[in-house]
Amino acid sequence: MPTVLITGASGGLGQALARRLEADGYDLVLAGRDSGRLQAAYGDRHLQVEGDCTTSAGAQAIIEKSALAGRHLDGLAHCVGNIRLGAMHRMRDADFADCLQANLISAFHTLAAFVAHLRADNRPGAAVLVSSAAARIGTPNHEAVAAAKAGVEGLARAAAATYAANGIRINVVAPGIMETPATTGILGSTVAREAAARQYPLPGIGSADELAGLMAWLLSPAAARVTGQVWSLDGGFSSIRPIVK
Ligand SMILES: NC(=O)c1ccc[n+]([C@@H]2O[C@H](COP(=O)([O-])OP(=O)(O)OC[C@H]3O[C@@H](n4cnc5c(N)ncnc54)[C@H](OP(=O)(O)O)[C@@H]3O)[C@@H](O)[C@H]2O)c1
Repeated sequence: MPTVLITGASGGLGQALARRLEADGYDLVLAGRDSGRLQAAYGDRHLQVEGDCTTSAGAQAIIEKSALAGRHLDGLAHCVGNIRLGAMHRMRDADFADCLQANLISAFHTLAAFVAHLRADNRPGAAVLVSSAAARIGTPNHEAVAAAKAGVEGLARAAAATYAANGIRINVVAPGIMETPATTGILGSTVAREAAARQYPLPGIGSADELAGLMAWLLSPAAARVTGQVWSLDGGFSSIRPIVK
């Protein structure tokens, strides 16, 4: 079975995707910044690699460690990221920098290390990056995360063009709000939760399991001719506006 590297593997989406790919029989390499958190989530299952993919050296080290453990990667699911909300005139420089680092810079370095790894052995592969509905449609107080995620989408399209001839596919998923540790604060009260759910043409809060299903498909041979695309899973939020009654 193919081997897939999941970054941000101790996060909500990372764990949902790991469950899904595990059920599909994939060999997994699970990366996170804290080996304790990885162990708490997965016990002794799968190869676990501690590392920080927000620098090129850190991203390369994760892939080198997995190669040293005998893994040749076929797929990458980059689930690292955060959601920094707040009007830009009030956002601190450090928070904006952290948002770019976690969402865009990590995606650039991890994807670069992954394609270099594949090209070293002239092998094909598939990568999925994670954007957000806010990259496509103006959403109040999302300036920082929208800028970072729009960058992720541009990065994926350019890289998909560069590496198509090598048989390397690169796609992006763009969810609306999902129930994960990243949104515990945002969805903390019933009132906030109901208000969030009402924002979507198909009302509700998304689940990481749903998005994991889409990501698993994009990584699979069933999507062998799909590359350079952004796949929205957002209840219609970024693309339709039903009549308000
Ligand atoms: N949840 C939502 O509503 C939602 C909506 C739109 C997009 N997304 C995107 O979905 C992806 C997965 O998020 P999630 O909901 O699963 O959140 P999560 O549970 O907080 O997981 C995110 C993971 O990203 C890593 N991370 C966060 N900040 C980092 C930083 N500054 N440097 C390096 N690593 C960092 C953490 O890894 P460690 O374990 O190493 O700390 C964490 O496990 C992210 O790209 C997020 O932006 C989520």
